[in-house]
Amino acid sequence: MHYGLALIGFGGVNRGLVEVLLLKKQILKQNFDIELSIVSISDMYLGYAADENGLDLEALKDLPSEKGALSIFPNGKTESDNDAAICAKATDIVVEATFTNPNDGEPAVSHCRTAISNEKHIVTTNKGPVALFGNELGELAQAQNTGFEFEGTVMSGTPVLGFVSSNLKACTINGFRGILNGTANFVLQQVEGGASMTDAIKIAQELGYAEADPTADIEGFDVMLKVVILANQLLGANLKTKDVIREGIVNISEDKIRSAKEEGKHWKLIGQASINDDGTISASVSPICLSAEDTLSSISGPINAIAFDTDLLGTVMVSGAGAGRIETAYALLADILKIDEMKKSK
Ligand SMILES: NC(=O)c1ccc[n+]([C@@H]2O[C@H](COP(=O)([O-])OP(=O)(O)OC[C@H]3O[C@@H](n4cnc5c(N)ncnc54)[C@H](OP(=O)(O)O)[C@@H]3O)[C@@H](O)[C@H]2O)c1
Repeated sequence: MHYGLALIGFGGVNRGLVEVLLLKKQILKQNFDIELSIVSISDMYLGYAADENGLDLEALKDLPSEKGALSIFPNGKTESDNDAAICAKATDIVVEATFTNPNDGEPAVSHCRTAISNEKHIVTTNKGPVALFGNELGELAQAQNTGFEFEGTVMSGTPVLGFVSSNLKACTINGFRGILNGTANFVLQQVEGGASMTDAIKIAQELGYAEADPTADIEGFDVMLKVVILANQLLGANLKTKDVIREGIVNISEDKIRSAKEEGKHWKLIGQASINDDGTISASVSPICLSAEDTLSSISGPINAIAFDTDLLGTVMVSGAGAGRIETAYALLADILKIDEMKKSK
C-alpha cells in the first residue's frame, strides 16, 4: 500500500518525521507492506513544494532553515499553500504539525476540517484542535470515513491513547493522574536541588526544555490541554478547558519543595481526572506533594508518566519521553500505521 503524505508545518516534529521515514523505510515495506512518500510540504516560513512522485527525503533532511528554502524543490514557492497541499489528489494523509494555539486552535482546526471534508486522513501532534474540538472532529472524520489520529498530543511517542484504547479496552477506566509536562517536572527537581525557581526556569530554557516564554509549561496550560484530551478520549467526557481547575508551580515556596524532599516526598505538577459517583467528571492541574510510596513520585527530570485507575488491573502506569522531535515524529508514524490497519481491515 502506498500513501502520499502532505506535511503542514515543517518545524522540529515534521523534520523528525523525515528522519524517521528514512530510518524505517525498509521495515515499513518488509513488515507492513507500506510505502510512504512526502508528496507536499507547506510551511509559513520555508514555503511550499510538491511532487506526486515523492520529494527527495535526503535533500529535505538537510533543508536549511532559510526563508523560502522549499522553493528549490519541484513546484516550489517561497510562500506556503496549505490548501493546495491538503486538497491535492496525491495526498492521502495530512500530517498537521503547526504551532499549538490554546485559545481557538487555529489555524490547525481549519487544516483538520479541510482535510476531513476532502476525505483525507489526518494525523496531528497539535494539542489545540484535539483539546478544543476533538470530539467534533472525531465525529466528522467518522462520518467521512477518514482517520483522525493524534497520539503525539500527549506524552509524544510514548503510547498512551493507543495503549488504553486497544490494550485496556475491556477495562473500565475510573480516572488517571499524570506528570504530563517534563519542563515543570525538571524545574521542580532543580529547586529541590537548591536552585531558585527563577534560575531553574533559566536552566530549563538553556537546555532547550522550556520555551522563551515558559508560561504554558509553568502555569499548567499545557497540562490542562492534555487533561482535556485524555478525559474526552479515554473517559468519554466532553470537557472544555474552562472545566479544568488549573494552578501552576510558581506559587509553591522553594522552602516547601526542599523540606518535602528531606522527608522523602516530592512536589509534582499533577494533571488528573476522575469519574464521580454521579457520572460527572472532575479534572484539575495542580502541584501536589507526593509521598515516597506514590507510583509517580520517582518520575524525574523531563520524563512523563501517567497512572490509570482501572477496575480489573488496579493501577496501570505508562512512563517515557514526554517530548522530543524524533519521539513525537514516532507518534505520527504510529498514527499512520493505525490508519493503514483501519484501511486494510475494511
Ligand atoms: N516538539 C515536541 O517535542 C512536541 C511534542 C508534542 C507535541 N508537539 C506539538 O507539535 C506541533 C509541532 O511542533 P514543532 O516542535 O515541530 O513546532 P515548530 O518547530 O515550531 O514548527 C512548527 C512549524 O509550523 C510552521 N507554521 C506555523 N503556522 C503555520 C501555518 N499557518 N501554515 C504552515 N506552517 C505554519 C512554523 O513556521 P514559523 O516558524 O514561521 O512560525 C514552523 O516551521 C506543535 O503543535 C507542538 O505543540 C511538539
